[in-house]
Amino acid sequence: MVERHKPEAKRVGTARIELIDKRVELPIVEGSEHELGIDIRKLRKETGYITLDDAYTNTGSCSSDITFIDGEQGILQYRGYPIEAVAEQLTFPETAWLIIQGELPTRDELRGFSKMLTNKALLHEGLRHHFEGFPPDAPPMAVLSALINSVSCYHPELLEIGDEHHMLDAAASLISKVRTIAAFSYKKFHGEPIVYPDPSRNYCNNFLHMMFTLPFSSYEPIPEVERAMRLFLILHADHEQNCSTATARMVGSSGANLFAAVAAAVSALWGPLHGGANMRVIQLLQKIHNGEESIDSLVTRVKNKETLLWGFGHRVYKNFDPRTKLLKKSCDDVLRTLNKQDPLLDIARQLEEIAVNDEYFLERKLYPNVDFYSGILLRAIGIPLNMYTVMFAIGRMPGWIANWAESWRGGSRIYRPRQIYTGQKQRSILPLAQR
Ligand code: CMC
Repeated sequence: MVERHKPEAKRVGTARIELIDKRVELPIVEGSEHELGIDIRKLRKETGYITLDDAYTNTGSCSSDITFIDGEQGILQYRGYPIEAVAEQLTFPETAWLIIQGELPTRDELRGFSKMLTNKALLHEGLRHHFEGFPPDAPPMAVLSALINSVSCYHPELLEIGDEHHMLDAAASLISKVRTIAAFSYKKFHGEPIVYPDPSRNYCNNFLHMMFTLPFSSYEPIPEVERAMRLFLILHADHEQNCSTATARMVGSSGANLFAAVAAAVSALWGPLHGGANMRVIQLLQKIHNGEESIDSLVTRVKNKETLLWGFGHRVYKNFDPRTKLLKKSCDDVLRTLNKQDPLLDIARQLEEIAVNDEYFLERKLYPNVDFYSGILLRAIGIPLNMYTVMFAIGRMPGWIANWAESWRGGSRIYRPRQIYTGQKQRSILPLAQR
């Protein structure tokens, strides 16, 4: 049985809008953290007008119970729990359960969910051949998106989700198998033999094992590295209606299955303005480190709009991204424990110092975002550059699933934005001989 639930903000007032030829009254709605909005769902029906909001800077595409962000204050909460508390006290499977199911798991629920994640880690052997079909240097995000759809072909029973138990089954499959796909594509890229998941290891440890164990040496991460991995995944687990999550909801709204929606979300995340920024940041820092560009000349080029400062700026945060603070601290902790120094961390710190005191960035409220320090943490863990956005995808899996599931539980209508047409007016086709 699916318990139908559609989040709805409550009505708190009326907006009166004067149009060219008429006036209209629309409900003002308020969310649980006092966010206000004008509910325009009846606007076109009653007036013939639509709203125009290029890039959706001002559009609420749904009401949601999952994640709250206050971009002005730099607050992020999963299901009401501050990100700082989640990062400190929960494991990644606990966080995934919280985000998808809405409450912290009980002991039994967590035991059951962890068992599901362990049991589902293997890929069907038939899928190994799919990896052979890619060139060794195939972008891991292309492999990930393709393989998520391929996995679904081996699990036709998960394509039509009938009830909550079924949904959890599909969710656990995705959260578990995404690690295996990522690690297998890493092994393929490095020409190393595939390492199968080890059921005695926890979620993060098992991933690191599949990545770094070799036939002649078993990889045992030190606790600080495992902690960093857990932190990275938790901090990426959800972020309300970002580009990839909105994509997952959009695809799901047509009735497409969870695997198809998540594969599409992976593609959306790949872009450098979204998850792909974590790779661009390291490439940028590396360039400065190699002496190919100075910090000053980079800042000048950014201010002249010749390039973006990757890892800076955010559609929602107009203040410090709380995830950045936690990542920055974790970079220090891991490097100290490993007794390593990363010159890129020093460059990042200098760049941040200059940027956050510069008029260009202050005026536009541009602060370092989650991607600014995350690459440095991944480098310290030993993850290669071309896998950074894949790591983001592993972390974001619970958020994509939770948003797909919220839409599914609410019986979402198909997403279908409108447009204001600005092209040619109706005309006749000139025969080919006369053109
Ligand atoms: N470097 C230089 N200028 C910037 C940057 C940046 N990173 N970000 C925004 N601006 C400028 C932008 O040019 C505009 O200037 P002006 O007012 O003179 O036209 C102003 O700041 C406002 O920015 P915007 O274009 O309205 O911002 P947006 O909300 O459309 O885009 C963003 C948000 C994250 C795509 C953008 O800040 C950006 O491109 N950042 C770099 C890429 C990046 O780090 N992406 C990761 C985002 S966080 C995690 C995730 O979602 O994956």
